[in-house]
Amino acid sequence: MTTISTTVPDWLALRAGADAAARSHVLAAALARAIPAGPVVVHDLGAGTGAMPRWLAARLPGPQQWVLHDGDAGILSHLDLRGVADRDGWPVAADVRIGELAALPEDAFHGATAVTASALLDVVTREEAARIVAACVHAGAPALFSLTVTGSVRISGPARFDVRALGAAFDDHQRRTVDGRTMLGPDAVSVVAAAFTAAGWRVRTAATPWRLSAGGLLTVWLDGWIGAALEQRPELADVADRHRARWEALAAAGRLRAVVQHEDLLACPA
Ligand SMILES: C[S@@+](CC[C@H](N)C(=O)[O-])C[C@H]1O[C@@H](n2cnc3c(N)ncnc32)[C@H](O)[C@@H]1O
Repeated sequence: MTTISTTVPDWLALRAGADAAARSHVLAAALARAIPAGPVVVHDLGAGTGAMPRWLAARLPGPQQWVLHDGDAGILSHLDLRGVADRDGWPVAADVRIGELAALPEDAFHGATAVTASALLDVVTREEAARIVAACVHAGAPALFSLTVTGSVRISGPARFDVRALGAAFDDHQRRTVDGRTMLGPDAVSVVAAAFTAAGWRVRTAATPWRLSAGGLLTVWLDGWIGAALEQRPELADVADRHRARWEALAAAGRLRAVVQHEDLLACPA
């Protein structure tokens, strides 16, 4: 099997605080109401180091069994569920499954109470998204997919910067084709929502923005955002350099702000 490596534990650790602050409590509570009490089996896709169970387990009933899927065996070796407990305080159990979503079988979630994912949908393909939805529908398991990038970015310090050209280049980079895989990027939530709706499921979404004002994540995210935009459209280098100089000065003065929009999606059988 080919394995993939789309992320590193350091990046996941750096974004963990902003992720936790952004996640939708409303949709998590709605998921908790949608599942039966009693033993709960949650399949988490693109589990990484386990951010989803670390945040969600305490909001769901127990006893809980998590099945953590990822295509990257390396990232799963950094899985950390120490101290993770259900809402009654009992520790959760977990298994891992290494496998790519491109090969996800329709019965992958057999016996699941719920299916989750976090910071995943924007890097999957249309075909992988269709497989995920088909497997959820086959299992009849509600799905909570958190923190999907929407492409909306606001950078200010305090006046708002016009970043439309860089933003459009970044969005195109998110939709690029790598090794024959064309990622959904900012189209992910609408594609997945449409697939669930076509299956007759109810879909709710919630805006879950990162609000960045200082510190490592703002700097690292901004570097990555500019770098991806320039990889897509190198001719924007002058524009980027002008912005970068201003942003570095504002960041040093503690005055730079960014709002990076994400969306959470909850889908439930009608
Ligand atoms: C950005 S990380 C998110 C990790 C974790 N859910 C979190 O919120 O911190 C995305 C994860 O999805 C996995 N992944 C991405 N595309 C995948 C695919 N097509 N098949 C299987 N796993 C995939 C990556 O290996 C990575 O661990």
